[in-house]
Amino acid sequence: MNLKDLYIDFFKSKGHKQIPSAPIVPENDPSVLFNTAGMQPLIPYLMGESHPYGTRLCDYQKCLRTNDLDSIGDTTHHTFFEMLGNWSLGDYFKDESISWSFEFLTQVLHIPVERLGITIFAGNESIPFDEVSYNKWLELGILKDHIAKTVEDNFWIAGETGPCGADTEIFYFRSNDEIPKTFDPEDERWVEIWNNVFMEFYKDTDGTIRELPKKNVDTGMGVERTTAILEGVNDNYLSSIWKDVIDLIASLAHVSYAGNEKSIRIIADHIRTAVFISADPSGIKPSNTDQGYILRRLIRRAIRHAKALNIDLNSNFEEQIARKIIAKYQDYYPELKQNEEVVLEVLKNEKIKFNKTLEKGLKEFEKVASHDIDAQTAFKLYDTYGFPLELTIELAKEHHLKVDEEGFKERFKAHQELSRNSSGEKFKGGLAGNSEIETKYHTATHLLNAALKEVISKDIHQRGSNITIERMRFDFNCDHKLSEEEKEKVEALVNSWINEEIGVERLEMPKEEALKSGAECMFIEKYPDIVSVYKIGDVSKELCGGPHVKNTKELGHFKIIKEEASSAGIRRIKAILE
Ligand code: ALA
Repeated sequence: MNLKDLYIDFFKSKGHKQIPSAPIVPENDPSVLFNTAGMQPLIPYLMGESHPYGTRLCDYQKCLRTNDLDSIGDTTHHTFFEMLGNWSLGDYFKDESISWSFEFLTQVLHIPVERLGITIFAGNESIPFDEVSYNKWLELGILKDHIAKTVEDNFWIAGETGPCGADTEIFYFRSNDEIPKTFDPEDERWVEIWNNVFMEFYKDTDGTIRELPKKNVDTGMGVERTTAILEGVNDNYLSSIWKDVIDLIASLAHVSYAGNEKSIRIIADHIRTAVFISADPSGIKPSNTDQGYILRRLIRRAIRHAKALNIDLNSNFEEQIARKIIAKYQDYYPELKQNEEVVLEVLKNEKIKFNKTLEKGLKEFEKVASHDIDAQTAFKLYDTYGFPLELTIELAKEHHLKVDEEGFKERFKAHQELSRNSSGEKFKGGLAGNSEIETKYHTATHLLNAALKEVISKDIHQRGSNITIERMRFDFNCDHKLSEEEKEKVEALVNSWINEEIGVERLEMPKEEALKSGAECMFIEKYPDIVSVYKIGDVSKELCGGPHVKNTKELGHFKIIKEEASSAGIRRIKAILE
């Protein structure tokens, strides 16, 4: 049995319900482009909302972190990764959480206790030393000198604001060297595999920390790292998760893995991530903004490394790699198989596009490679040849050159302002989705969805949604540009429902029942068996995690500010509440 199954079975045996992995692109959280941790889709529940599955949950979650793109190529980093998690929503706390982690590691995975090292929150002026966790680990048999205390590294929060708390982290000694008497978390032979966060606080935008209504537990275990440990390999990419993908890439390049590890790992990692992004129900395509730009950068970097290994870019190498990845994961993530053709198309189109300019761009680079790369050249490589900045930086590094990054960014900004294409606002938000105005926009989104059905066609469905404090954005299937008259009708209908002062109700019911009753839902396979449904009188009924206002009268006046094409067959409306 593999790690994911062992983990889920274990926590089910401890009274947990398994919840499905949420889409990798958060549906209603504009502060992050991708889910970076298993807890992200659970934020409303960690904040106190009741979860339809109860108070003990577990899952494996698709995650993506792009903050250390530079590190990809080493033995332990990945952009996409899977995180195993178990949660207590105001149910058990430190005692059970630590006991079960210990039991799973030593009884199920059979990890020798002396290979484990633990970090504990040391305490600061506002939160005391975590004595309970310390004593629990000792009681279970962790060696005293294998428990280290830190302040900075033992307090966990996703970003700047949100639910947070002290944590205890579990490390494994991954080396053939003698196990040191004293555990040092800075010693790289110790690899962090699991993090148990005791989430009892909420940090606000002004930095203040208050208590949450309930004490929760949020844990995260990295599948790639733990699998490598269990299989006794010192390079994650040599574990069973990667081995055949690595072998395939090496054979496509007619080289051995040894000596070419960096490029092969980058190709493997980036194509796997591109497969997961483009198979996600959010329907992201390569573009020059937001998630689409991350996807583009990953594919282009993989292609550049494929070229560096002399892989024939006109062959279907990317398809062969992608198919292997899809086959490997499809039982856990059915969307990969369902969207296989889309994924292959995305990869192929982007390859063809970049292949047209890559050769010329590389020549341009070689021309100037006798000195550091100035901003103008870096920008030309971006603008004319489609080289994302980090690709130029990477090339420069290989030639022991520097790039004027600041100068590039200035030019880039000026260029963006010119094309009025700034996406900066995306990164502002605090705990996105839960402010008063965002809550209003969530409800307005349901009304807009209902109005479009009534005015245009009952076959219209939501294809995407994004809310910031400034506006709502709604994507839907529709084969034509909306006329002025249609837009006015939609607006008027939404406003009439607002004026009718309709109550908003939250119901819980089995998924099948919700669907039978005609409730609207975007990604049905992504919902658990018991779902929450928001009902707005007779106007709207949708499966949704919330939050929503209590009555439509709170919304004010609804106004469409833009209607445009989003992609083929998909229109996009941006609207505000005044
Ligand atoms: N949310 C915690 C983490 O990502 C478990 O480390």
